[in-house]
Amino acid sequence: MKSIQESVRPNIKQIKPFPQELPDLSVGEIKERLGLDNVYKLSFNENFNGPSSAAVKAMREAADKVNFYPSSYSVELSGALAGEFGVENTNLLLSNGADEMINLVAQTFAGPGDRVIFPSPSFGAYAVAARMVGAEPMPVPLLDYTVDLDAMLSEVDDKVKLIYICNPNNPTGTMLEPAKVQRFLSKIPSHVIVMFDEAYMEFTPNPKRLTAINLINEFPNIGVIRTFSKIYGLAGARVGYLIAGKETVCVVHKVRPPFNVNGLAQAGALAALRDRKYVEDMRSINDAQRQYLEEEINRMGMNFVPSCANFLFINTGCEAGIIYEKLVQRGIVVRPGAQFGAPGFMRVSVGSQEANREFISALREIMGVVV
Ligand SMILES: Cc1ncc(COP(=O)(O)O)c(C=O)c1O
Repeated sequence: MKSIQESVRPNIKQIKPFPQELPDLSVGEIKERLGLDNVYKLSFNENFNGPSSAAVKAMREAADKVNFYPSSYSVELSGALAGEFGVENTNLLLSNGADEMINLVAQTFAGPGDRVIFPSPSFGAYAVAARMVGAEPMPVPLLDYTVDLDAMLSEVDDKVKLIYICNPNNPTGTMLEPAKVQRFLSKIPSHVIVMFDEAYMEFTPNPKRLTAINLINEFPNIGVIRTFSKIYGLAGARVGYLIAGKETVCVVHKVRPPFNVNGLAQAGALAALRDRKYVEDMRSINDAQRQYLEEEINRMGMNFVPSCANFLFINTGCEAGIIYEKLVQRGIVVRPGAQFGAPGFMRVSVGSQEANREFISALREIMGVVV
């Protein structure tokens, strides 16, 4: 008798299921696993201030209409985003989180025998997306904690179909200068698709200047992936989107499930987008809290990679895995750098004021720093 394993496609066998370690669990699951009532989860780069109250109200109202299918093309939300970015509706496509968009793009453009380039360390979904479609993942190491565009360019050959660029990069929080990006794109063959993952772009000092959205008319082979999970505080609603040339958007629509963004999520994202004050507040809260973390980490004699996002990549100067375990004992869950091939580091989300204070005081105690 043949086993199920024999029917599994070889490329799928190479994919590890999404982990169930502490940093990958929900707060409720972490509490249960640790047997603690109070935990601080600083491993997912979530927004700790709660969603916009306007978004919550809109989702409550939308709940009354869940007997109906939602708009397949997320028409209202797509129109509002088009207005926000000064593009056409046809330049926009909504998805079930940026995660889904990363996969949809791979399904559209890459397949067996192709290669997919992405930075390393960076967001883990690019390698999974490449494997999922049977393409070969090609990680390209960072240079000075930053995406190395020259090294990526040197990897481009006939087999490369797709390049993901995480900007700001997760886990380092570093940014690319638009002039450098433009020079890079001018050297990329026009059939190679370049997808900028700008999940954290809204936290940067000048998103309008730094975004690759400014380049979509000049380079029809590029696209920008964004999300409502970070600054908009809607990670649980699952809304992401792509802004790209019309031709790209048109083909990616073909692989999208017809109702990939649910009605509650569409309503919540629309209200969050319109709540401009909320986004401004989130940006300044993040700046202030990140600055607090930076100052305290400096005072402890440790350093970190200067970050434009809502997380910090901290160089502990020792085996960060041990520090991670000790933080867990105190109910604080961060992301150990070993997951990114950097065992001396840990990535810490900028949390609430309370969470950040708890983290700093725990770290001080663990490192034996007297202040
Ligand atoms: C760089 C990057 N891209 C995409 C995502 C996924 O975003 P979403 O929640 O919209 O799927 C994350 C989530 O942490 C991320 O760090």
